[in-house]
Parts: sequence; C-alpha cells; structure tokens
Amino acid sequence: MSKKLYIKTYGCQMNVYDTVRMHDVMAPLGYTASDSYEDADMVILNTCHIREKADEKVYSDLGRIRKEKDKKKAGGDKMLVAVGGCVGQAEGAEIIKRAPYVDMVFGPQSYHQLPEMVTKAIRDNGGVVELDFAPVDKFDRLPEVSNSQGVSAFLSVQEGCDKFCSFCVVPYTRGAEYSRPFNDVLVEARKLVDGGAKEITLLGQNVNAYHGSVSLAGLIDALAQINGLERIRYMTSHPRDMSDDLIAIHGSEKKLMPFLHLPVQSGSDEILKKMNRKHKAELYFDIVERLRKVRPDIAMSSDFIVGFPGETDENFEDTMNLIRKIGYASVYSFKYSQRPGTPAAVDENQVPELVKQERLARLQALVHEQQTAFNQSFVGKTIKVLFDRDGKFDGQLLGKGEHMQSVYVNGGGAVRGTIADVKVTGGFLNSVTGEVVR
Ligand code: SAH
Ligand code: SF4
Ligand code: F3S
Repeated sequence: MSKKLYIKTYGCQMNVYDTVRMHDVMAPLGYTASDSYEDADMVILNTCHIREKADEKVYSDLGRIRKEKDKKKAGGDKMLVAVGGCVGQAEGAEIIKRAPYVDMVFGPQSYHQLPEMVTKAIRDNGGVVELDFAPVDKFDRLPEVSNSQGVSAFLSVQEGCDKFCSFCVVPYTRGAEYSRPFNDVLVEARKLVDGGAKEITLLGQNVNAYHGSVSLAGLIDALAQINGLERIRYMTSHPRDMSDDLIAIHGSEKKLMPFLHLPVQSGSDEILKKMNRKHKAELYFDIVERLRKVRPDIAMSSDFIVGFPGETDENFEDTMNLIRKIGYASVYSFKYSQRPGTPAAVDENQVPELVKQERLARLQALVHEQQTAFNQSFVGKTIKVLFDRDGKFDGQLLGKGEHMQSVYVNGGGAVRGTIADVKVTGGFLNSVTGEVVR
C-alpha cells in the first residue's frame, strides 16, 4: 500500500542530500514523496541547528504539523512525525518532552535506521530516539541512489568536522570527520550520471579535507573521466585544507567549474584566533592569489560572521578591507548567534545586537555592490548555462552559469536539462538575464 512521506529540508546542502537519501531509504517501505504535509502519512523535519533562527523555525513548523496530526487523528487516521537532522542530534529526547506529539527523533548519522525506527514508533506509539554517530554503518547500509536528482546532483563525500571553530555546532551535530571510500564515491557518481546528472557537487562540511585513498584533487581527477559528466563543483572548504594539488587542478581540469566557496568568516587575525580558525588573513590572500594565477577568471564566494564576541570596530574594518581586496561574486553573511555548548557562547564580551545589525548592514551594502558588478560584467558576453529548473514566471527557465551565476531566460523550453549558450543582456544583484543563442 502506498503511503506519503513529506520531508522538509532546512540548512545546508548536506541536508538536501540527506533528504534525497531518506526518500531512498523509505521507498522500499512503500513511501512515496509528497510536497505538502497536509496529505502525508509521515512528516520528517530535516533540521538545522547552526543559528538560533533556524532552530526556532522548527518549533513553529511543528506547531502547524501538530494541528494536522490532530485533524487526522479525529478522522481515524495516523500521521508519524519525526525530527531528524542537526536539531534532532543536538536536542534529542528534549524535543519529545517539549513536543510530545513528535514520534521520533534522530540525527544526521542515523537515518539509515529509519525503517526500524518507523516499526518501533508504530509499535510503541512514538518515543523513538536514535542518536548514534555511525557514518560508516550509514553509508554501508544506505540503498543505491535512486537516480532522482536530475541534471544537477549532490554527492556527500565527507561527513562531520574535527575543526571545532569556537562558534560552531557542526562538530557536535554531525560528529567526527569521515571520508567515504573512493570507490563508493565513484560508483555513486556513475549512477548519478547514468540517471542524467551533467553536474555533480561534491559535499562535505570540510570537503577539501577529504582523504579516501586519494585526496579531493585525486577524486576530482577520477570523476572528470566519467563520460557525460560535464561539470564538477565542491563545497564547503576550509582555507587550511586548500592543498597544492587542489589549487593546481583548478588550472588544469576544465570540468572543474571556475567558482569556489571558501569561507573566511573574518578579516581580522585577532578574531580568527578567537574563532579557532587556526590561520591568519594572509593565508587566505595567498590562496586566492594562487588560485587566480592558475585560473584567472575564478569567482570567489565566502561566509562572514559579524559581531563575534570581542569584535571591535577596527576588527570589523579588517573584514571590510578583506572583502574590498578579494572582490566577491557572492557572500553569505550572518550576525553571530550564541549556540549552546560552544565556547564562544559563554564569552563575556558579547557584541550588542544593534552593533551587529549596523555592521551586517554595512557589510551587505559593500557585498551587494560587488555582486551587482560581478553579474554586470557578463553583459554582452556569451556564457554556458546548465538549465535545471523553471523560473518564477510562465515560460521562464532558470540555470547556472559556470561561475555559478543564476541565469534567467524567457522561452527556450527546449534547452531545459541541457547546457546552452546564452547571450547575457542584463546583470542584477542576484542574477543575470539573457537569450539562448544555441
Ligand atoms: N564548514 C563550513 C561552515 C558550515 S556552517 C566552514 O567551515 O566554513 C555555515 C556558515 O554558518 C559558516 O560558514 C558561518 O559563517 C555560519 N555560522 C556558523 N555558526 C554560526 C554562529 N554561531 N553564528 C552565526 N553564523 C554562524
Ligand atoms: Fe563549523 Fe568550523 Fe567545522 Fe566549518 S570548519 S563546520 S565552521 S567547526
Ligand atoms: Fe545546519 Fe547541520 Fe548543515 S547545523 S548547516 S544542517 S550540518
């Protein structure tokens, strides 16, 4: 009998990948994907714990889901409610205490056990908590990928993190660093390409720390040999793991796209030290310079945290100067958020909210100028775009340029799912527009 499963995904790309894999795990039990919780027999919230806001969102969504569950119950039907992902790992049984209508809680390294959890939850009427860190077991027991990701696919190759930046929950929610075996990654990549993927993004919280029997550069080299795979990307990287061979392959491997998300968080050596990033701004400048030497058109992207405990006006200016010096194609910026259990959360020198707001606004104004200039720099040029989805309006298509620009075209439905040449006609803050020329 077919049942419906709705999974809501919060947070990073690794969660997006995990959601796809949860569907793969649940398919043999007769669960097919549903895109709303209203008609679902089971709801999974695949959650994110990275900032306070992400966390709060889960509880407000749970409130809505509870109403639906009650409605179903009144009609004699059941709805299983599960909280997975990083909030599940971080809060565990607390979630069931706070929201008793939640039947099961699990973390990012235990979702391969979903079939057993579901059986238990039905038998015992909820109360299932599964928080094992078992990445080896997980990847061994997950079924093969189900070919359902389309032309642009995610592939997790590395899990967890051993870096313990003083603001970050990831080492606690995803556990210790683990690299999937080289061969398993190759097999999965081939399967994705057989299923239509033209682009694969290799994922890991610290993906450039990948160490199977080869390094990440070795893995990219091997993947590039797969016929039909045209684009390779990877994220997210840490400056300390930007090895020589990885920098070099940006110059030699045409399938590796000229875009790199390399978060630096701050431009101040003092703050970097307090963040436990274990490198100075100089290392970052050096990496970007070397990347640009081998691949002059490479577009850079980063994450920044403003208002980290103890950040002075001068420290913040160092960040602004770093941004001016690098010149970004895109940036994600956040106000520092105190996360339970992390060292920086109990630092006495918390920055006042208003100061954080003001710094964030200034940083974003600068970044917006850079992003707009970047997108405008393509006007009049012809670029290659992988069209993987519909745009916002009727007949509009949305794709990604090699430099990760969002590209909108009107009409041209025939190029959906392909890489097409586009003449760029307009450049804006978050996208470019153009016409398909071939
Ligand atoms: N592994 C990646 C980051 C993963 S988290 C790396 O090392 O760069 C994604 C981003 O969230 C981080 O880069 C950081 O900018 C932001 N972030 C993490 N913890 C945060 C916190 N406590 N407050 C605000 N932003 C945070
Ligand atoms: Fe978090 Fe730092 Fe690990 Fe990135 S490297 S996941 S920011 S602890
Ligand atoms: Fe969030 Fe967990 Fe990803 S905390 S950013 S979903 S690793």
